[in-house]
Parts: sequence; C-alpha cells; structure tokens
Amino acid sequence: MLLQDKVVVVTGGANGIGRALCRRFADEGAAAVVVTDIDEAAALKLADEIGGIGIGIGCDVGSEADVQKVVTRTVEEFGRIDLFCSNAGITVNGGLETTDAEWERMWQVNVLSRVYAARAVLPAMLARGSGYFLQTVSAAGLLTEIGSASYSVTKHADLAYAEWLSSIYGREGIGISCICPLGVETDMLDPNDPIHQFLQVAAITPEQVADSVVEGLNDEQFLILPHPEVAEFFQMKADDHDRWLRGMQRLNQKLTKKRSRRAA
Ligand SMILES: NC(=O)c1ccc[n+]([C@@H]2O[C@H](COP(=O)([O-])OP(=O)(O)OC[C@H]3O[C@@H](n4cnc5c(N)ncnc54)[C@H](O)[C@@H]3O)[C@@H](O)[C@H]2O)c1
Repeated sequence: MLLQDKVVVVTGGANGIGRALCRRFADEGAAAVVVTDIDEAAALKLADEIGGIGIGIGCDVGSEADVQKVVTRTVEEFGRIDLFCSNAGITVNGGLETTDAEWERMWQVNVLSRVYAARAVLPAMLARGSGYFLQTVSAAGLLTEIGSASYSVTKHADLAYAEWLSSIYGREGIGISCICPLGVETDMLDPNDPIHQFLQVAAITPEQVADSVVEGLNDEQFLILPHPEVAEFFQMKADDHDRWLRGMQRLNQKLTKKRSRRAA
C-alpha cells in the first residue's frame, strides 16, 4: 500500500510514534492526515504544522462514541478512510498489584479501541472492497514485557485481534499490519525504571519506526519489525517455548536485582 493520495487517521497522533507517522504520511503525499489524540491541543497543533491536508480532533480511544466521532468527521470532510492507524496505547507498571480499574483502562485503550475502530470503519471499507488497518502493537505482543503484566496481556490481545481481522477479511480487500518494536525513544520510556533502561539500550527513534512502517505498508507485511532481532526472539520462542521462558526468568532475576539495588 502506498500512502500517496490516501486518507489516513492516526490515534495518539500528537506525540511519539504517532506524531512521526503523521509527519511521514504527509511527506509521502497522503491526501489527508487526521491527527487524533486525547490531548486535543497537541493534535490541533500538529495538524496546523502539517498544513492544508491535516486536521486535529480530540479523542479518547477508550470511548466508542469518540472513535465514532472521528470516523464521522473524517468521512464528512474527506469522503472515506483508506488507512486507520490504531496507535494510541498506554502502560501501567506492575504485576499482581495492578488494580482492576487499571486492568480495565488498559483493556479499553490498548484493545477495545481497536474493536471500536473496526466497527466504525470496516463496513464502508468492505463496501468499497479496500481499506487498511495499522496497529501499533509492541514486541511485548509477540514476547512479553517483564515490567508490566497488563501491557503484555493487552498487547498480545491487540495482535490476536489483528490476526483475526486478517484471517476473516484479508480476502475482501482489507489489509492489516502490526508494528512490533522494542524500545522507542518516546515519553513512554521511563528513564528511571531499570526495565525501561534495558529497553533504552537498543531504543530507536520514532522516525526510524515511521521508516519501517512506510516500507512495511508498501510490502503489505503483517508484522512490521523495526528491530529485526525481534524476529529472532520470536523464532526462538516458537522453536522451544520452555527454553525461551527460562531465558525470560533469568532476565527478570537480573533486572529485579538491579531494581532492588536502586530502591536500597
Ligand atoms: N515507546 C516505546 O518504547 C514503545 C514500544 C513499543 C510499542 N509502543 C507503542 O507505541 C504506541 C505509541 O506510544 P508512544 O511510545 O509514541 O508513546 P507517547 O506517550 O509518546 O504517545 C502516546 C500518545 O497517545 C496519546 N494517548 C494516550 N491515551 C490516549 C487515549 N486514551 N486516547 C487517545 N490518545 C491517547 C497520548 O496523549 C500521546 O500523544 C503505544 O501503543 C505503545 O504501546 C511504544
């Protein structure tokens, strides 16, 4: 899929990976770039920077009414949506201590948001016989994230939903790709957290992620892996799940020790 002349929506588009995608899609010749974010002021500012083809809309992707509002406004202004990028995502550090309210918010923002987008956009795409979804998942959706049970689970669910969409609608003109990076230099990485420090060692810029996305969309690849080593880790997991888990246990021990030393 080429970005030229496409009408594109990006959620969580005002910062980090989403912002880099919006700028890059505009550079690639998109017909319209709809920047949506819970931070409405930042969305409007970026749309302004992009110029004539950009509009900004405030939207909490955890609310189906908000997602529907974005879709309705985009179709009113530009006639269709060619590419819907479910990029907005959040994290909550922790394991057993994660509260039900936190689990529910993670579920809404990282998973249900994708369901709301498909419900709102897919019928018109199917009627036209073309359309594309890009989900910002994470390497945590293929592997795991030691520091956050809720992030690992919801990112697996995000990937599972994308696999389901592709299986059901892939032969009806609907494309889908999932971006699965390791660390990316955005506000999501906490420089004081040893696990995030570990991710920062190999962290790439949001612009590098956008480069991989343009390439991956062009090739219509389901998995877009801006860190190529993720393919190796995923292969290791598939080859020997128990061995892979033992490796994760060792890594957890190492990082927990580092965390305890920091807390002491
Ligand atoms: N940074 C990383 O290391 C990394 C790695 C892999 C995957 N990701 C994923 O990339 C995506 C983007 O994260 P980022 O790293 O650019 O973070 P970021 O914090 O820089 O940007 C996230 C954006 O999403 C917006 N947002 C948050 N909650 C929202 C909501 N409910 N509705 C609409 N917008 C909302 C924020 O205002 C912000 O503009 C997320 O899905 C994240 O899980 C990040």
